[in-house]
Amino acid sequence: MKNIVVLTGAGMSAESGIATFRDANGLWEGHDVMEVASPQGFYDNPTLVLDFYNQRRAQLKNVTPNKGHVNLQKLEEHFKVSIVTQNVDDLHERAGSTSVLHLHGELRKARSTNNETLVYDWEEDLVLGDLCEEKSQLRPHIVWFGEEVPMIDKAVALVEKADYLIVIGTSMQVYPAAGLVNYVKPNTPIYVIDPRPTFGEADFDNLTIFKSGAGVGTEKLLNSLL
Ligand SMILES: NC(=O)c1ccc[n+]([C@@H]2O[C@H](COP(=O)([O-])OP(=O)(O)OC[C@H]3O[C@@H](n4cnc5c(N)ncnc54)[C@H](O)[C@@H]3O)[C@@H](O)[C@H]2O)c1
Repeated sequence: MKNIVVLTGAGMSAESGIATFRDANGLWEGHDVMEVASPQGFYDNPTLVLDFYNQRRAQLKNVTPNKGHVNLQKLEEHFKVSIVTQNVDDLHERAGSTSVLHLHGELRKARSTNNETLVYDWEEDLVLGDLCEEKSQLRPHIVWFGEEVPMIDKAVALVEKADYLIVIGTSMQVYPAAGLVNYVKPNTPIYVIDPRPTFGEADFDNLTIFKSGAGVGTEKLLNSLL
């Protein structure tokens, strides 16, 4: 089976009702990202940051995968599909995709502020006083701006082996995720699905752009690939 690697961003989940980030002028649910998604933000106001991710985690109970997530799962009947997502929701998994690498962490996990190897499944609210087994405060298992992206090497290795690269719903502004596209083999077909794509067809040799949302765009993708 040929390898498909799919890079997804916040736009992938927009049709499930989860707000993107650039579409709201760089605010994430009304917050400056540095306030809620940086180590300094957590240091300055840990309660605000914990509450912010508690709300995002709670929202997952009220949303479901959209047609785009479902269509990507369908690709698994014909290809070896690896999803590399910047999203912290779990909608790819809930649609049944079997290989999902979360570059920026996961809402349904918490980790120690003192020992990043201590990671726990976490379904409910996380509050000050919730401690890891070494008695340090827990924080959301999210890669904040300015932090290392531990999964990036695995993501690069996947992209290097891709026979097709699909990019869905990301403004390609957050590095190192945005640089992944540069690791494809020469002439690898690249498909971009985004109503307001940041790529132009001249940017890569073998690029096809579907200027659509994730649901319609993945229908077009299935028609092209199958
Ligand atoms: N669902 C989530 O987990 C979530 C939501 C918001 C932000 N974030 C975080 O914020 C950062 C944002 O960077 P980003 O590049 O992923 O997102 P972004 O918000 O910067 O860009 C979103 C992109 O999605 C496109 N888009 C909007 N509606 C779409 C649709 N219906 N179908 C397809 N594409 C659509 C936009 O045109 C834009 O290019 C990431 O690091 C991510 O971790 C995550």
